[in-house]
Amino acid sequence: MSVLIKGGRIITAADDYVGDVYVDGERISLIGESLDVQADKVIEAAGKYVLPGCIDPHTHLDMPFGGTVTIDDVESGQTAAAFGGTTCHVDFIIQPKGSTFADAFEDWRGKANGKQVIDMGYHMAVTDLHEGGTLEELASLPDQGITSYKLFMAYKGALMVDDETLFRTMEVAAETGALVMVHAENGDAIDVLVKQALAAGRTEPKYHALTRPPETEGEATNRAIQLARVAGSPLYVVHVSCREAVEPIARAREAGWNVHGETCTQYFFVDYSFLERPDFEGAKYVYTPPPRAKENQDVLWNAVRTDTLSVISTDHCAFLWDGQKTIGRDDFSKIPNGGPGLENRLHMIHEFGVRTGRITLNRMVELLCTNPAKLFGLYPRKGTIAVGSDADIVVFDPERKFTISAQTQHSKTDYNLYEGTKVTGAPDVVLLRGQVLVEGDELVAEPGIGQFVKRAKFGEELKPERAAATA
Ligand code: URP
Ligand code: ZN
Ligand code: ZN
Repeated sequence: MSVLIKGGRIITAADDYVGDVYVDGERISLIGESLDVQADKVIEAAGKYVLPGCIDPHTHLDMPFGGTVTIDDVESGQTAAAFGGTTCHVDFIIQPKGSTFADAFEDWRGKANGKQVIDMGYHMAVTDLHEGGTLEELASLPDQGITSYKLFMAYKGALMVDDETLFRTMEVAAETGALVMVHAENGDAIDVLVKQALAAGRTEPKYHALTRPPETEGEATNRAIQLARVAGSPLYVVHVSCREAVEPIARAREAGWNVHGETCTQYFFVDYSFLERPDFEGAKYVYTPPPRAKENQDVLWNAVRTDTLSVISTDHCAFLWDGQKTIGRDDFSKIPNGGPGLENRLHMIHEFGVRTGRITLNRMVELLCTNPAKLFGLYPRKGTIAVGSDADIVVFDPERKFTISAQTQHSKTDYNLYEGTKVTGAPDVVLLRGQVLVEGDELVAEPGIGQFVKRAKFGEELKPERAAATA
């Protein structure tokens, strides 16, 4: 199968020019002006943007959490992703306590079997590390293409690890070339605040935020940065939500430390007041870290513009409002933490980042495609438009009007964080390794088309000829 994308505005992290892209099989094989080639399929892209497929490095599909399981499995979550122009994501395997990493990996592969709509890799969330077992096993993961370890510094009694586990994992990463990712909040202090709130009869959704003040995020972010410095490992701080966490990352990066940070789409748009919505509607916005005071939104836009934060992910962790979030109707601490977003990241960041002039188109591509690919061992196979790269391409119509709504979304959840938001600009055609995945409102490809991608170690490139992928 060959595809010719004619006359589009090709936008990468560095370039912006009009040209043709010729795809032969799974890869981009020619880029040029008015290419004189025959193709099985021609896509007229005049007036459209030709973007690399977006990469979401932070998702939770089919994940047991908070006494239930996220509502989007691999098929529904990846279908939602595809309609939003995301062609590759990195999901979290959660090591059940007492389990080996090998068993956890097999379990997570089983969840994806035959269901994959887009390409995917995995991070390993470490919950249980002991000598003479998982500590040694951890070192073997990068050779299997799992090149990032995730640690939760919060969720006491569930996923949280102590500083010894965090530090030992960092030491292993320094040896193996893996990237350490942290959910940075002080879980011990939060646990005390939650118990005090409940004892005082404070049960509504807003107390989710009031018991997780920004200082607890700032403290844990700084602690992780300092410990990674001692261990000599690279560090990536996930879902940064507030000034208190941005500042230590900025300081570390100014000092030239190997520290990186992401924020998520929702932190630009949803603020603390959403949690105060009546009739339990606030529960829709119970995710962690919580929605913050509105002034943090400008701090985050500034941080992504200046590269203090290098990635915008979604942290897609979707639950039904009616039936799952309601587990915590009488106790905010029982509301499953997480929100949807995989489908609308590109819509929202294009509309409110690019169209308002907060970031450039190139920077949008860098934040949504190229930086995730570079940081997570997928570049240059993915994350850019270049000869030899996978033909993961979004033909994006910057004039297409689109209204975001739970009624029309592909995620299985029953609400949308951005309900009713009108945007101008949406994907028209999405290609995955040269095959048409989405055309207009249709999912053209069958589940099973997506592959597991073995990622390169931190700082190494995933060259097309070296890339090993299995269905
Ligand atoms: O509330 C959230 N973010 N749920 C997903 C798990 C996590 O902390 O990333
Ligand atoms: Zn988290
Ligand atoms: Zn998450």
